[in-house]
Amino acid sequence: KTESTLTFYVNGRKVVDNNVDPEWTLLYYLRNKLRLCGTKLGCSEGGCGACTVMVSRYDRVKGKVIHLAINACLAPVASMHGLAVTTVEGIGSTKTHLHPVQKRIAEAHGSQCGFCTPGIVMSMYTLLRNLPKPKMKDMEIAFQGNLCRCTGYRPIIEGFRSFTEDWEQSQAMYNNHLNNGISNGNGCAKGDQCCKNKFNGVTANGGCTEDQAVLFSKTEYTPYDPSQEPIFPPELRMN
Ligand code: FES
Ligand code: FES
Repeated sequence: KTESTLTFYVNGRKVVDNNVDPEWTLLYYLRNKLRLCGTKLGCSEGGCGACTVMVSRYDRVKGKVIHLAINACLAPVASMHGLAVTTVEGIGSTKTHLHPVQKRIAEAHGSQCGFCTPGIVMSMYTLLRNLPKPKMKDMEIAFQGNLCRCTGYRPIIEGFRSFTEDWEQSQAMYNNHLNNGISNGNGCAKGDQCCKNKFNGVTANGGCTEDQAVLFSKTEYTPYDPSQEPIFPPELRMN
């Protein structure tokens, strides 16, 4: 090990490299040296987010691990020394199992050509690592750096909305309405609070059906369990 040795972690695996060109970006290193091609090269100038990966570091002052979504096309690989990088391959794949973030974007038809998808998945994943129950506003901010030329964003947001606190609340309100509204067969006992005002979920007799009321049902999704995520490499807490 020399002073110019680069040491960092990628998807839980330690990488030690004595021959790093200072001009290499993290994206170049991932795709060409580690052959991790899930992270895409779009604009190469920080504009599209196709190259988004999660970088984690231990903050000694706060005493906790901080996760950041970064553009791998801009970050020099040398700046990763002592940090942990997670790419889309590190969270799940069709060969093993899909992470709930990958599953929900797929089931919501939020991926068409798929070029932006790894970056969008990693932005959402990073948000969840920092904030397991985000609000819609947090999500909108998290996606400010990701462009998609295919989907028009609606299906992406619809799929990921299911991770938010706002969605959990709306589900609870909706279930409440189903229980109160359908039982009387003719409109809702909740009056002005009726969820039809929110969901447009009304049948001819005034009751709601789940299909009409929500685009996706919670029961279709693999639950997200933050406690199952990989741990931060203990060695990097010492550096
Ligand atoms: Fe477009 Fe990195 S490739 S932001
Ligand atoms: Fe094609 Fe997003 S799915 S760019």
